[in-house]
Amino acid sequence: MNIEMNSVQPDPVSVVGVIGSLRKASANRLVFEAATELVEAGMSLMEAPISTVPFYNGDIEERGDPASVLALKAAVREADAVIFFTPEYNGGLPAVIKNALDWLSRRSGDEGSAIAGKPVGVVAVTPGRHGATRVRDEMAKAVAAVKAEHFENSLGVSSINHITEAGVLVDPEARENLRAWLAEFHGFIASREQGE
Ligand SMILES: Cc1cc2nc3c(=O)[nH]c(=O)nc-3n(C[C@H](O)[C@H](O)[C@H](O)COP(=O)(O)O)c2cc1C
Repeated sequence: MNIEMNSVQPDPVSVVGVIGSLRKASANRLVFEAATELVEAGMSLMEAPISTVPFYNGDIEERGDPASVLALKAAVREADAVIFFTPEYNGGLPAVIKNALDWLSRRSGDEGSAIAGKPVGVVAVTPGRHGATRVRDEMAKAVAAVKAEHFENSLGVSSINHITEAGVLVDPEARENLRAWLAEFHGFIASREQGE
């Protein structure tokens, strides 16, 4: 007898990553790339690019969101959650992250903010030894201000120059910390979806 098994799998949780450094050899990009390999089977991670998003300007907005802004808003709106991979600049947020948050907080047409209510995780990458705690604190405030759901357990990736080789995150402990954090963030997203 041929018994058909019910093999319907739930859709994977889709997450977009916003990388807060525009340079090619960015350590934040490198950690994002490691994260795309380390996410669990039930989760996907894709970049929502911000390199061509202009500085927020009400005149530009009045003429209609540029394509780069529309693409960013659509990517975030369609995703289940967002992770910001960010450097710390002078103890605070890099301008490109603040700018992305400002655009994302704005309505477009009949649609409200793309980021309000979204689960948001923060990974801060630094050559320093202390986990870029200041930018993580600033991100908690910035994420709350745009009415997103901040995952309180942000991740600091320290001493980045000592845990990479040829542009790859190679340190086993750093990779395991990132993998475990992504799994925790996955749990956080699931708990929000269940309305906990
Ligand atoms: C303007 C500026 C300010 C910085 N301030 C800090 C800081 O406050 N804390 C810190 O840990 N690193 C600081 N750094 C060093 C960055 O963490 C480092 O350049 C990092 O690699 C940038 O991320 P990226 O490699 O993804 O571009 C600063 C770098 C720049 C360019």
